[in-house]
Amino acid sequence: MKKSVIVLLALAAFAGTAFAADVIELPASMGKVSFPHKMHQEALKDCSKCHAKGPGKIAELNKEWAHKTCKGCHAEMKKGPTSCKDCHKK
Ligand code: HEC
Ligand code: HEC
Ligand code: HEC
Repeated sequence: MKKSVIVLLALAAFAGTAFAADVIELPASMGKVSFPHKMHQEALKDCSKCHAKGPGKIAELNKEWAHKTCKGCHAEMKKGPTSCKDCHKK
């Protein structure tokens, strides 16, 4: 009985780390932004929409870049959040 509980907990912890990269948490004083990376990769296909210099960390990632890139595309495509509280969660 005890053993199966431990196995379940271990599985849950493993699943947590295995899927962690699908959503990237972007910290901000306004409230963190949970960015569904995998969903964007699948919906947009084109990595260069965000990764101008190739996949990996985005050096220019800051408020200005994010609002122009993230909010800009959502407004243009009429898809995805454009209001503060829909991106910034407490
Ligand atoms: C499409 C999603 C999105 C929307 C909509 C949005 N933001 Fe942001 N915002 C971001 C992201 C992403 C960052 C950058 C986070 C980082 O640098 O890691 C950011 C950064 C910021 C920062 C800087 C945070 C810091 O810690 O210095 C402020 C302030 C901010 N936003 C305010 C707003 C306000 C006010 C609105 C509404 C008018 C808004 N945001 C709408 C995604 C969004
Ligand atoms: C809609 C924007 C967007 C698209 C499209 C996108 N990414 Fe990203 N990606 C990001 C953001 C934002 C980060 C976080 C960057 C940071 O922390 O500096 C990131 C991070 C990454 C990282 C680093 C992960 C880590 O843990 O540090 C890799 C690798 C990556 N992306 C690959 C890709 C590939 C490959 C594609 C295309 C199939 C892609 N991305 C499409 C926005 C995007
Ligand atoms: C080039 C276009 C584009 C860029 C750049 C982009 N997005 Fe999006 N985003 C979309 C589209 C399209 C959707 C809606 C996908 C759907 O509903 O199928 C979306 C949806 C979302 C959603 C809602 C997800 C859900 O579960 O409904 C969030 C949150 C989001 N985007 C955050 C961001 C953030 C943060 C960035 C910048 C780091 C960003 N997006 C950059 C196109 C973009």
